[in-house]
Amino acid sequence: MNILAIESSCDETAVAIVRDGRQVLTDCIASQVDLHRIYGGVVPEIASRKHIEAIYGLADQALKNANLTRDDIDAIAVTYAPGLIGAVLVGVNFAKAAALALNKPLIPVHHIRGHIAANYIAYPELEPPCVCLIVSGGHTMIVDVQDYTKMQILGTTLDDAAGECFDKVGRVLGMPYPGGAAVDKAAQNGGASKYDLPRPKPGENPYNMSFSGLKTAALNLIHHAEQVGEQVDVNSLCASFSEAVSEMLVPRAMAALEQTGYRKIAVAGGVAANSRIRADILSSAEKLGAKVYMPPLSLCGDTAAMIGSQGYYEYLAGNLADMELNAYATKSILGESL
Ligand code: KG4
Ligand code: ZN
Repeated sequence: MNILAIESSCDETAVAIVRDGRQVLTDCIASQVDLHRIYGGVVPEIASRKHIEAIYGLADQALKNANLTRDDIDAIAVTYAPGLIGAVLVGVNFAKAAALALNKPLIPVHHIRGHIAANYIAYPELEPPCVCLIVSGGHTMIVDVQDYTKMQILGTTLDDAAGECFDKVGRVLGMPYPGGAAVDKAAQNGGASKYDLPRPKPGENPYNMSFSGLKTAALNLIHHAEQVGEQVDVNSLCASFSEAVSEMLVPRAMAALEQTGYRKIAVAGGVAANSRIRADILSSAEKLGAKVYMPPLSLCGDTAAMIGSQGYYEYLAGNLADMELNAYATKSILGESL
């Protein structure tokens, strides 16, 4: 089954064609990140306009790359939530028009479920159940993936997402948007024990996380140094910050893994590209005798391939939409409105 998949929830317009959930025939991306960089973050109105400009040409390009015609497409999958509402709407309306014109099923896909599915592309042998640690620009959670479309949230951040904090720290240190990759790079040359940053333990649920105190502590440290004319050791601050984020995430993910009794842990989302988190996941999972699934860096960020993969499993589960499909800025990974 060939699924034409559309992703436009943030600053990447993406169209892919994925066969039977696992085989990526083509994965086209028009990134807007250079445009938004001058503003230090994504400007929603610009994002929507650029999606409109790019999406038609990208879909034609995808068919050409895969050497297919419109008749070879069996269904259309699209990110319908969560994301910047104007941006998501562009993809949803394009997908509705394509499904109507081609008379094919329309499959709504939750963006974060798509991130989990990036692992199905990277590891053809991977099947649920597994625990997935999801760390993106807007979401941070630990999920019990019981089946492809059946999941339970074990823990979540109570405030900021991990990616948001990386970006904020990068921004205050004068690094280009999005700061996560730059902070990660700087951290390679720093000492993680140089700065003592907090690791809050929020609330009753041992799997819940909190990043705002950690973010504020890092920002205060930078601002204080500026005020008293001290030089911050940028590399070491990035290393200390990355370590603190990782120590918030990884032990909780491992505890969740132990609780479920599964022997498989997957990582997903843009922050899954972080080298400290990847290293810590690998060493901690090894101690538990669990197998680790981490997408290659090219599949950690937003792609349409991941939407095409998850779309296949949503299709098999009968989760289809009609022309009433709407876009949502927020929606739980379980499909409930927030
Ligand atoms: O999943 P994603 O592409 O978009 C969302 O769905 O949010 O995640 C983007 C986030 C950004 O915050 C970016 O700074 C972060 O992923 N990121 C990283 C790294 N590469 C990307 N954060 C830390 N270390 C990295 N190497
Ligand atoms: Zn994403």
